[in-house]
Amino acid sequence: MSEVGQPEGERKQVTVLFADVQGSMDLAEGRDPEQWHAIMQRFFGLLADAVHRFEGTVDKFTGDGIMAVFGAPVAHEDHAQRACYAALAMLDEVGEYAAELRRRDGLNFSTRIGINSGEVVAGEIGEGGYTAVGHTVGLAQRMEALAEPGRAYLTEAAAELTRGYMELGDLGEFEIKGASRPVRVFELAGVGSARSRLDLSRERGFSRFVGREEEMAALEEALDRAVRGEGAAVGIVAEPGTGKSRLAYEFGERARRRGIEVFECQGQAHGRDIPFMPVLQMLRSYFGIADGDPERIVREKIAGRALLLDSALAEDLPLLFEFLGVPDPDRPLPQLSAEARQRALRGVVCKLVRAPNRREPIVTVVEDLHWMDDASEVLLRELVGSVGATKTMVLVNHRPEYEPAWRRASHYREIQLAPLELDDTRALLDDLAGEDPSLDGLADLIHERTAGNPFFIEEFVRELVESAHLEGARGAHRLVRPVEDIRVPATVQTVLAARIDRLGPAAKQLLQAASVMDEEVSERALGLVSGLAGEEHYDAALCELTDGGFLVETEIYPERVFAFRHPLTREVAYGTQLAEQRALTHAATARALIKLEPDRRDELAALIASHFEQGREMLEAARWFARAAHWAGHSQPRDALRLWRKVTALAGELEEDRETLMLSVASRLQQLDFAWRLGMERGEEARLEAEAEELASRVGDVRSLSLLRLLNSGRPGLVRQMDAWVAGVEEANRLAEESGEDGLRVAVRAAGAYAYMCGADFERLDRTAGEVLALAGEDPAAGAGIVIGCPVAWAHMCKGVVYRERGRPEEAVREYEAAIRIAGEQGDPETASWTRGNLAGVIAEQGSLEAALALARRNCELTERLGDVFSRTLALYSLCYVQLLGGQYAEALDSIERAERLYREAMGGGGEVQAARGVLRAEALLGLGRVEEAVEVAEQATDMARAHGIRWPLPRALLALGRARTAAGLDGATEALEEAARVAAETGAAATLEAIEAARETIGAAR
Ligand SMILES: Nc1ncnc2c1ncn2[C@@H]1O[C@H](COP(=O)(O)OP(=O)(O)OP(=O)(O)O)[C@@H](O)[C@H]1O
Ligand SMILES: [Mg+2]
Repeated sequence: MSEVGQPEGERKQVTVLFADVQGSMDLAEGRDPEQWHAIMQRFFGLLADAVHRFEGTVDKFTGDGIMAVFGAPVAHEDHAQRACYAALAMLDEVGEYAAELRRRDGLNFSTRIGINSGEVVAGEIGEGGYTAVGHTVGLAQRMEALAEPGRAYLTEAAAELTRGYMELGDLGEFEIKGASRPVRVFELAGVGSARSRLDLSRERGFSRFVGREEEMAALEEALDRAVRGEGAAVGIVAEPGTGKSRLAYEFGERARRRGIEVFECQGQAHGRDIPFMPVLQMLRSYFGIADGDPERIVREKIAGRALLLDSALAEDLPLLFEFLGVPDPDRPLPQLSAEARQRALRGVVCKLVRAPNRREPIVTVVEDLHWMDDASEVLLRELVGSVGATKTMVLVNHRPEYEPAWRRASHYREIQLAPLELDDTRALLDDLAGEDPSLDGLADLIHERTAGNPFFIEEFVRELVESAHLEGARGAHRLVRPVEDIRVPATVQTVLAARIDRLGPAAKQLLQAASVMDEEVSERALGLVSGLAGEEHYDAALCELTDGGFLVETEIYPERVFAFRHPLTREVAYGTQLAEQRALTHAATARALIKLEPDRRDELAALIASHFEQGREMLEAARWFARAAHWAGHSQPRDALRLWRKVTALAGELEEDRETLMLSVASRLQQLDFAWRLGMERGEEARLEAEAEELASRVGDVRSLSLLRLLNSGRPGLVRQMDAWVAGVEEANRLAEESGEDGLRVAVRAAGAYAYMCGADFERLDRTAGEVLALAGEDPAAGAGIVIGCPVAWAHMCKGVVYRERGRPEEAVREYEAAIRIAGEQGDPETASWTRGNLAGVIAEQGSLEAALALARRNCELTERLGDVFSRTLALYSLCYVQLLGGQYAEALDSIERAERLYREAMGGGGEVQAARGVLRAEALLGLGRVEEAVEVAEQATDMARAHGIRWPLPRALLALGRARTAAGLDGATEALEEAARVAAETGAAATLEAIEAARETIGAAR
């Protein structure tokens, strides 16, 4: 049993045909019902026969006619042509019978036909058996209603697919009920001149022939052999549209230029049931028979050429005449069984090839062997077998799913034709579209999408022209709209869908499942999702897909992994499934990943989540997005923020219960927690705060309220005053206590301590760090990841800060080193980054400038990778500090200005570190002798620190101000230094105080 269930239908590109027999209603009156019934049966029979002859499906009888579908259940790439052939046959045969009825019974019947192509949903729908439904069907019926008696009308969509193959008359636009825009209608007038796609592209004007040098050389070489009398047979194999026919054509032209005769024939997709069609074609071309040649002339052409070759062919002339449709009344063919006749015909063809008198080499091109009827195939095998010592070269081509019986014959050579290389694609596009600068990059995009298939490339360009992305004439196009999402052209879609449909049911099911799953899928996952794992035909189905070139094996160890060979195959396989079916497969994929990758669940959580989302299991999706966000955490803050946004959105769509509410609150809090790291628009932040507050209060979620208090009071210190910040932190701590959750108590206490640090309350900072460590006890992971990655490491860092301020550098270093080690062990790159920056500072203060610089630089690199703006600006801050101590003022200025820009761009403001950054900037400017600017910057930093109660950088700001004013010869230096000394003394910043005293002495001495 398949895990995802059997599809109830599929989306398909098809052609729908409606035909009815008109006049029937009024005639039914006054007729013997039995006779009437017989007549109608006969009509229905004729209609149905025509449908079946071209491999269509009679979907239903409509009372006075039929509805037929071409291209479903089995897709045919020429579904529209088939419908047209069937329509022509209907008009012909119904017409004949109607004429008979008119003659015999004076009755008046005629048929009307309507044809439309497009997408339908086809399958066993309801009780009605296999059927097709959709707008496409309705429009076909409207075409029928519109048609004149005895005519077949097509919509533009159907005309588009058959143009060239069919002769069409444009009837102009019609208003059609149910169609939003007028529909262009065409009348089917007959069979057109194009037989193959290549004929069509020739009519449109060939694109420049690109690449294929090697293949061409191989063909030339085979031709040389034939010219020498050694005979040659070459097969070109490739997927549809790769350029087999074009290569054969170009080669044929070269041969003709050398004066060598070339004869061509081809299998026809809708001609497989008609024996010998290609052979007939070939012989007509061999004998130079043109359409409209009178019979006598035809016989003369045949006899003339045959007898010149070999007089013994005289006895075969009646057979040739008959086969070519010009039997000689004077020399009738003796009665032969069909089998005997075929054998005789094969004999004649071989004689023609081996004719002893033939001195001129010939080339015979047989295209599309995969559509060859059985009789022709047998003949061809004999032909290939007999070219050995002749002057004949046989060039055949076919698609990979076909395997010729003579594949292993010794003089047969097979060439696998590869798609175009990127350079060839570029050259082709230059020819098709031109070289306008607006087209830059288009070649790469199209190459990637089409994987170098020239037919697909041409069709994509046509699609771009039709969708008005490209303007201007062919070869001189301009791109006027960006191409983000180019639709797969209907022509391409049809070709690919037909290939997929020819797969066995299991292989097709696998391919469809794989298309939903991923670009690459493992064998086990595919088995599980498709529900085919363990079934005996699973391997066979996989083989079918790899042999057919649908999937390629990208890895074999430790298990096999498959990828789509062609991106478009995946798109089409995906697109043919009903949305409902795809959703089921997505959900099954998510479950398979969970089951198969128990050790990688965190890493895969985002993928699992997105499969659940597309599988419409929103709760699971929200849970797994939350898991992914946790995992991305502070190491990939941008991803984490994006994922939390996703959780908020999903949770909002779900029915409200405890879990979804918790997800709603938690995801908002997490976003706020990333806001101070990455920046967020203030309005968005305020909205999140308000929503989280409302939701958390409603469910009495103390934990979330505590975090909210912490985050919205602490976040940027500049929004509020230090007192408000500290009050918020205290409230947060109170709520954390109330929650009774140990981890939360540790987390909130630790994170809240940042307020004391900024406020230069070192006493309290020290005490709080101590409490955190005591609460954590032996557990280094206590409170981890709630706000700060590792609160224990952070607490050690805080202690280090206190020691450093108090002028005890060795102890500071010890604490910092402990913090870095624990942060590393606990996977908290953020705290590690902040601490390394501090450590570099102390080391520099102790005189080891080289080591400090190296550490600060390394820290910048490591932090850059984190992508978190807050940490990156701090790392640059520390680097600047070390550079200042080393007297590298220009570099220092550069570092701090980068930090300032980075912070402002992301956060839209300067944040609580702004004053500290200002101090360093002033010092750098001072070092560079730009004293006026230094004064200004130092003043701003001082004002800022004072105004907001950010007392930590205040003494240093005042110190810088004092020095700058002195250097500028301004007043107020002494006052600044006095205040600096006072604040430093008050806050117990012993190290800074020392520096201040030193400055006061120098300045005093200088006076
Ligand atoms: N080397 C080439 N340079 C330029 N255009 C090419 C080249 N090869 C193919 N084309 C164009 O691509 C289109 C498809 O090529 P073609 O009809 O030869 O493919 P095919 O392999 O014969 O496909 P099918 O299996 O459907 O018959 C044609 O319009 C052809 O002119
Ligand atoms: Mg071809």
